Amino acid sequence: MANDEGIVLAVKGREVFRDVAPDTAPMDEPTEQAQRLWDEHAANYDRQTRVFERLLFGGGRRWVCSRARGDVLEIAVGTGLNLTYYPGTTRLTGIELSPKMLEIARARLQELGREADLRLGDAQALDFPDASFDTVVCTLSLCSIPNDRRTVAETRRVLRPGGRFVLLEHVRSPLGAVRLFQRLLEPLFRRDGDTLLREPLEHLQAEGFDIEELERSKLGVVERVVARRPM
Ligand SMILES: C[S@@+](CC[C@H](N)C(=O)[O-])C[C@H]1O[C@@H](n2cnc3c(N)ncnc32)[C@H](O)[C@@H]1O
Repeated sequence: MANDEGIVLAVKGREVFRDVAPDTAPMDEPTEQAQRLWDEHAANYDRQTRVFERLLFGGGRRWVCSRARGDVLEIAVGTGLNLTYYPGTTRLTGIELSPKMLEIARARLQELGREADLRLGDAQALDFPDASFDTVVCTLSLCSIPNDRRTVAETRRVLRPGGRFVLLEHVRSPLGAVRLFQRLLEPLFRRDGDTLLREPLEHLQAEGFDIEELERSKLGVVERVVARRPM
């Protein structure tokens, strides 16, 4: 059965809207749960993140997007808060798990009068051939995607040799006292589909990326990374 968004599948008695190929493997339970949760958050996401944007991530979106070149894939595009920062020379594709977040991103794109291909998709199982992109961008999402390691591996696969993965993330602090505080807050954040204790660098290195730029700030909680897939 099809609708405006694409194919409608019944998963455990619930309708899940997808516009990916109908023969794509069904979502696992954590991914379904993440989709449900972000659908619930979508309407309030921009307002709720405003304070964190100001306190922790100021300038981060501009930093990330200014490094995007050529064919760009943004994974977990959310409500499209990065769209305004991409150089006009880039050709942008964005994927997002939550139909409700995606709807807001598409409206934002239209308002900005920009062109991009924004579609439903799962960052853990990207629906693109190997070596399709020059840059992959991810902001504040490796903390929310259930399997961050698989996402980094998928990113490597779809990047062309020499292509770059550019990230803005909140991560596990290297400072013991701050990390302890993060551990205490972790259960609260987990309920909202977020985790405070991840460190994407470990996965980037395990996947053989070369780290070209690395900036840490805010007591080591905020990380900006440019990682290059070797030739
Ligand atoms: C904290 S929000 C960040 C959104 C956006 N990147 C930003 O910077 O504002 C996390 C996003 O990750 C998305 N997400 C979670 N799991 C995903 C997956 N497996 N594939 C694609 N997107 C996913 C959520 O739906 C949500 O939009």
